[in-house]
Amino acid sequence: MKIDGTYYRSVWVDPADGWQVHIFDQTKLPWALEILKLTTIDQAAHAIRSMQTRGAPLIGAVAAYGLCLGLRVDASDQALAAQAAMLGATRPTAVNLHWAMARMTRHLQHVPQADRIAAAYAQAAAIADEDAAQCEAIGRHGVGLITDIAARTGKQVNILTHCNAGWLATVDWGTALAPIYMAEMQGVDLHVWVDETRPRNQGAALTAWELGRHGVPHTVIADNAGGHLMQHNAVDLVIVGTDRVTRTGDVANKIGTYLKALAAHDNGVPFWVACPSTTVDWTISDGVRDIPIEERAATEVTHMTGPTEDGTLARIRVVPADSAAANPAFDVTPARLVTGLITERGRCSANHAAMAALFPELATLPQMAISS
Ligand code: MRU
Repeated sequence: MKIDGTYYRSVWVDPADGWQVHIFDQTKLPWALEILKLTTIDQAAHAIRSMQTRGAPLIGAVAAYGLCLGLRVDASDQALAAQAAMLGATRPTAVNLHWAMARMTRHLQHVPQADRIAAAYAQAAAIADEDAAQCEAIGRHGVGLITDIAARTGKQVNILTHCNAGWLATVDWGTALAPIYMAEMQGVDLHVWVDETRPRNQGAALTAWELGRHGVPHTVIADNAGGHLMQHNAVDLVIVGTDRVTRTGDVANKIGTYLKALAAHDNGVPFWVACPSTTVDWTISDGVRDIPIEERAATEVTHMTGPTEDGTLARIRVVPADSAAANPAFDVTPARLVTGLITERGRCSANHAAMAALFPELATLPQMAISS
């Protein structure tokens, strides 16, 4: 996608030296657009843990490139296993991370050690390219949801989204935002309600920034405003991303997604989940029981960061000093509340039969490969 007319991906290899890995430091957005140059596997792991880079598909791709950086130092069998395990443990919920490490390991273990680094870069590039293509396809398969409403109502289409599932969260295009970008490119009159997404404000900071760069009309709302807006017919459609979908269609996504799904269900608002096949965990069937939910630092709840009048970034405490805080980072929306999934192969209901019909080769794989 473009920033002020220049095309970028969210992760790329330095074209001059062919090995350093570049990402945007998403902890600096929207105040500054800074490019981080990752040169070691530890820097890649830190970038994922600290959420300098984030979003389920993107952390899979960055971890794949992080493994390349590690193999540059030691490409032995033992190092490959240890490095993949280390990167895979950086964040627990997004299955794309574990999927990417499993794919890299499966591929590289059969490559002679002398050829491993080049093979790793090629495989990481394939993961990145495939993600960009999948997201573009999700956009094509999802855009009809928006154009249908526009055609039916003849009015502006109001879409609510949570967190950031745009191009900053993937290699390109985004998942939930891809249909929105495509509708906007087709000239559809649309407007996006952007949940601020406390505690880390991915909506207010990242989704709003992305949409603004592309000229998509949007309004940032407090996380608790969605239900009220739905009751007053101000939301035609909800589209969110996901970090892990079970074989039965339960959806893990950023904390607060479940409450939006409940409100959408109560108000008859369609609730769609944009889901590349790399985000489906075919090994599990009960999302609430089986999906590991990341617990992040309480300081993400107790403190907020933003610029002061003079532009310097300040971190302030917004919770009494003697109050405890808890920070579960994701929740699970049961399949019964999901209108459907938008995948790279088309739209389907959130249930095993429908998902397996779109991805028969994945649904029937021997259940291996992904450890949480
Ligand atoms: O903690 P984050 O910011 O990595 O969480 C991101 C989300 O919850 C996204 O909705 C999800 O990863 C889908 S990204 C296309």
